[in-house]
Amino acid sequence: MSDLKNDRFLRALLRQPVDATPVWVMRQAGRYLPEYRARRERAGDFMSLCQNPQGACEVTLQPLERFDLDAAILFSDILTIPDAMGLGLYFDQGEGPKFRKAIESAKDIEDLPIVNTASDLPYVPDAIRLIRRELNGRVPLIGFSGSPWTLATYMIEGGSSKDFAKIKTMAYSNPDLLAVLLEKLTLSVIDYLNAQIAAGAQAVQIFDTWGGVLSTAAFQQFSLKYMAQIVAGLNTEAEGRTVPVILFTKGGGGWLESVVATGCHAIGLDWTQDMGEARARVGDRVALQGNLDPAILRSSVQVVESEVGKILGSYGSGEGHVFNLGHGVTPDIDPRHVAALVDAVHSLSVKYH
Ligand code: CP3
Repeated sequence: MSDLKNDRFLRALLRQPVDATPVWVMRQAGRYLPEYRARRERAGDFMSLCQNPQGACEVTLQPLERFDLDAAILFSDILTIPDAMGLGLYFDQGEGPKFRKAIESAKDIEDLPIVNTASDLPYVPDAIRLIRRELNGRVPLIGFSGSPWTLATYMIEGGSSKDFAKIKTMAYSNPDLLAVLLEKLTLSVIDYLNAQIAAGAQAVQIFDTWGGVLSTAAFQQFSLKYMAQIVAGLNTEAEGRTVPVILFTKGGGGWLESVVATGCHAIGLDWTQDMGEARARVGDRVALQGNLDPAILRSSVQVVESEVGKILGSYGSGEGHVFNLGHGVTPDIDPRHVAALVDAVHSLSVKYH
């Protein structure tokens, strides 16, 4: 058994009773924190920070120094996998991710290697081991990856996209070629998440940020199918505990029943779903994580507290809820509003347990 001092988060993901609802915040380490901006400045740029285990460890712990969070999340990025495949990830200030090498032909896809984490991404397990040591059992550590579909969107589009024109053209004109890419990414993600678990990640989340831009049939074919293979390929027992798997498809609220069928332990919800209705649909089969609209953090402490109360009330009594935002916290947010969110979840949720 691990010596966790606070295991609310892991217990809630496994639908076990807790004393209060656990909370963490997607992108909890990031540019809304002045100490993060200062540390990134010192590192030079974002990727240097990710690739330096000591720096990644420091930044992972920053939000835990400020807020009473129930989990830490590895500081890294989903795009480390395409970077390790040789695409050359870089970030232009304020412009989002870009790749030095574009994926343009069938040959480009056929030539892509499958990632071996130990040799291609050693800085990630190194950071995890260091963070576990520094956390010393205070809260569990979350590892993560992008979904194959979401990673493929960045690789095929060459960066962020509004209409996903290139990858959708490939999906409908040459689905077999896209499948070759998605299969390579699936094997890479399985290796990557198993390496994170072996290094000490105590739960893992798959970010399917762009699954929601697909039709129902295309979501099954190009995203969910591969996430199900990943869930089946993970070593979800470590240190005498289950390592819960959370699937987060932004815009995926219409597909909860089929996401449950992957065998994941928990589903992340964006803010477009009503928490109570989602709970009624999934029943006791999975836990739910979410789902405050991150825009609410731009309002006031009073509004944050009242909106937190509404989501807790909508979920209702009993186990299986991890509080979070419906998507990542944005750089313009006042950290005091995040503090108000975390404290409100703990104080207002006691009566439901
Ligand atoms: O949650 C955490 O605190 C852990 C760290 C984390 C980052 N990225 C740090 C980051 C996590 C879990 C991610 C995941 C990620 N990265 C996703 C999935 C989650 C989501 O938001 O939907 C996606 C799509 C990416 C790809 C990515 N990385 C983009 C589009 C960008 C630019 C975004 C922007 O706001 O400019 C990044 C960069 C990035 N990843 C930053 C951070 C803190 C900002 C980089 C900086 O410091 O300049």
